Amino acid sequence: MPDLFHPQMMGYLESLVPQRHEVMLEMEARAREIGFPIIGIAGGQFLYQIARMMKATRIFELGSGYGYSTAWFARAVRENGGGVVHHVVWDEKLSSQAKDYLGRLGYSDIVQFHVAEAVETLKATEERFDLIFNDIDKVGYPASIPVIKERLRPGGVLLVDNMFLHGSIFDPANTSEAVQAIRTTTKLLTQDPQFISSLIPIRDGIMLSYYVP
Ligand SMILES: C[S@@+](CC[C@H](N)C(=O)[O-])C[C@H]1O[C@@H](n2cnc3c(N)ncnc32)[C@H](O)[C@@H]1O
Repeated sequence: MPDLFHPQMMGYLESLVPQRHEVMLEMEARAREIGFPIIGIAGGQFLYQIARMMKATRIFELGSGYGYSTAWFARAVRENGGGVVHHVVWDEKLSSQAKDYLGRLGYSDIVQFHVAEAVETLKATEERFDLIFNDIDKVGYPASIPVIKERLRPGGVLLVDNMFLHGSIFDPANTSEAVQAIRTTTKLLTQDPQFISSLIPIRDGIMLSYYVP
């Protein structure tokens, strides 16, 4: 996303992230090769840091792709003493690629895989989570928020990716469904007194929302 930032900014932020496991480097290379929208290196480090800081042991991801963001969360959960990360994607092929990568990273005992629609899967769980990460199709964001609120423990954290939508939200003439969905979600998270939210300008914008106890 070069036009959103100083041309050297993302490369600089990524250069500050310590070296990753070789399987994670493989996942990053794959994203570059096929243009798959992973959270990115600096974004991954941010997710990992938040999960470590809050000692999260129960994490639910909506829209997990082939498991790059999952790998960062699984690492945090392992270092927090163990727990569970739910990987949810509706594409069987991506789910089996994720199983392979996450198995090779040694996280098979932590990650639970679901091939399904993510919001419905979250709704069907009976648990409350320490941390929920939302990266589904953007038009699905507004309807996901009430479901997430029911499944986040008070004091928990919600992270939502693509809150700049590649810069398209800055154009007032852009009223596409996805842009409107991001605007609505931004309002839902920044104007709800039950959340304390900050939009973090890493890559495509990550909303960090604290669910006030
Ligand atoms: C942006 S990618 C995920 C990237 C991943 N979070 C990462 O950073 O490595 C979103 C993935 O979720 C899938 N997806 C989108 N909406 C979904 C939904 N409502 N339920 C399940 N999967 C969904 C897409 O097909 C895609 O594979």
